[in-house]
Amino acid sequence: MSLDDDVPIPTLLRLAGREPLAVGHLRYVFQHPGNRDELIKVMRADAVASRWNRKGRWAKRLPRTRHYIGYLRELKEYIAARARSNGEPPIARMVGLVETDLGIGRVSEKVVGVDGSLAPTLAAVYERGSCTPALEAALDTFLGGLLDCNVIVGDMHAWNIVLGSDSRGGPRLVMIDGFGEKHAIPISSMSRAVNRYRTKRLYKRMLAQLERIVPISGED
Ligand SMILES: Nc1ncnc2c1ncn2[C@@H]1O[C@H](COP(=O)(O)OP(=O)(O)O)[C@@H](O)[C@H]1O
Ligand SMILES: [Mg+2]
Repeated sequence: MSLDDDVPIPTLLRLAGREPLAVGHLRYVFQHPGNRDELIKVMRADAVASRWNRKGRWAKRLPRTRHYIGYLRELKEYIAARARSNGEPPIARMVGLVETDLGIGRVSEKVVGVDGSLAPTLAAVYERGSCTPALEAALDTFLGGLLDCNVIVGDMHAWNIVLGSDSRGGPRLVMIDGFGEKHAIPISSMSRAVNRYRTKRLYKRMLAQLERIVPISGED
């Protein structure tokens, strides 16, 4: 079999100097330079320095994957959720990994809002209009999707969920970060019932937190 000379060999993607579309606690989120529908997430050097490389943070350095441990958690959960259910889990479609000049990049499908730009977070939607019946319905569908597909959630908060569409449809609520088992003893992985209970609890807490940030006016 001969190799095709026309196929370009993937090289290091250059992201340094580009403006990120979003900045999270731990990662920069860049537009994929080669694909309109995809995003590349890279670890923020300042977050790595303060969370992983600071003196006394030896325990953080124990995992061989170091500061990329979150990538592994997400990849594992994405694969597990896809493997164990026939439905589409309400989590962003994972594309893979890419080498960049800012370290290993995690590639995801972009979830977009009505104008085609990055979908707003649940926090932003809530802040704009509080909890409308349409949003309540979207929240119910979202929780139902997580439970049906037995997704394990580590960090459920309103900045890790966006309202928008991707190649699978929408608009709907999609979890873009925070999925995957975080506990040292992986009880959620062992028991579907425990995971159900925990997911519902995290969901309730998130809603309560949202209510505190944006209290619903006119209601007691
Ligand atoms: N797949 C996606 N589609 C749309 N927006 C996204 C997507 N992934 C991330 N974002 C946006 O980027 C922000 C930061 O991404 P996130 O993965 O949460 O980073 P961090 O790990 O630093 O918390 C999110 O709050 C969201 O606004
Ligand atoms: Mg996040």
